[in-house]
Amino acid sequence: MQQARTREQLWSVLRPWRLAGQSTALVPTMGNLHDGHLALVAAARQHADRVIVSIYVNPAQFGAGEDFLRYPRTLEDDLQRLEAAQCDLAFLPDDRTIYPRGLDGATQVRAAPALANVLEGAFRPGHFDGVVTVVARLLNLAAPTIAVFGEKDFQQLLVIRRLVEDLGYPVRILPVATVREPGGLALSSRNQYLDHAGRVAAAELSAALREAAGRIGQGKVERREVEREAQERMRRKGLRVDYVAVRRSADLGEAQQDDRDLRVLAAAWCGATRLIDNWPAGETNGPADI
Ligand code: PAJ
Repeated sequence: MQQARTREQLWSVLRPWRLAGQSTALVPTMGNLHDGHLALVAAARQHADRVIVSIYVNPAQFGAGEDFLRYPRTLEDDLQRLEAAQCDLAFLPDDRTIYPRGLDGATQVRAAPALANVLEGAFRPGHFDGVVTVVARLLNLAAPTIAVFGEKDFQQLLVIRRLVEDLGYPVRILPVATVREPGGLALSSRNQYLDHAGRVAAAELSAALREAAGRIGQGKVERREVEREAQERMRRKGLRVDYVAVRRSADLGEAQQDDRDLRVLAAAWCGATRLIDNWPAGETNGPADI
C-alpha cells in the first residue's frame, strides 16, 4: 500500500493509474477505522481497479465545544487495517494540504440549506457546510471515478449526493449499508467513548428505530405517534433524545400520507456521547445476527 501526504505525492501515485486507464474509488474517512469503514473499502474494491482511502479529521465540520480535539486518532492501527483490506493508497493530508491558507482563507462550499439545516443540521449548525467543503476538496484532489459513503450517516450521504449533482462532479456515489454490532448498535468511532452500561443503553437507539421502521412499513400507523413512542422507549433506557423523525428517504422532507420510501432517523445522547442512527421503513430484518 502506498501513502501520500501532499497533493504532489497524491498525483504522482495517481498519474500512472490514469495512464493505464484504471478506475479509482475514494473512501473519505476521519480515521479510527472499524469494520464499518472496512465495508466501504470492500465495496470500493469491488467497483474500481484502485482503492484510495483518505484519513483527515476535518476541523471545518466540528462545532465549538464538539469533540474535535479528543476525536480518536489511531494512524498506525488504521494503516495496518487498510493494508489488510487491500487498499492501494492511503491519502493522509495535513491541514495545509486541505486548507493551504487555513480555514479562514479557504473557499468554502455551502450545503443545500433545505437538506442540510434539518435534523443533524438543526443541532449542529454549519456541520454539513464543513462536510461538503472537505469532500469537494478531496474529490478535486483525487478525481476518483467513484466515491463511497455509508448509510450510517444517511443525511450526510444525501447532502453529498446533492453536492455532486449540483456542482456537476463527474463521480458516482456508492452507498454502503450500515455495519452493526451483534446487539444492533451501529459501529462508530464514537462508541469507544461508551462504557459497558453505555453500550447497552446505546443499543436501544437501533432497537427503537428498528421497531419504528417496522411499524411504519406495516402502514396504517400515525407517524407522529411512532416517533413519540420510539423517543419514549429511548428515554426509558436513559438516552437523551435530540430527535426521532420519519422522513422521505429522497430528500428528508416531512413524510406525506402516500409517501412510500421512508426512513426513520434519530440522534440521542448517551451520557456525554452523541450517537446517530437510521433505519429504512418497512425493513425489520437487519443483518441476520440481530
Ligand atoms: P467517518 O465518520 O470517519 O466516516 C467515514 C465513512 O464511513 C462515512 O461515509 C460513514 O458513513 C461511514 N461509516 C461510519 N460508520 C459506519 C458503519 N457502521 N457502517 C457503514 N458505514 C459507516 O463521515 C465522515 O467520517 C466524515 O464526515 C467525512 C465524510 C470523511 C468528511 O470529513
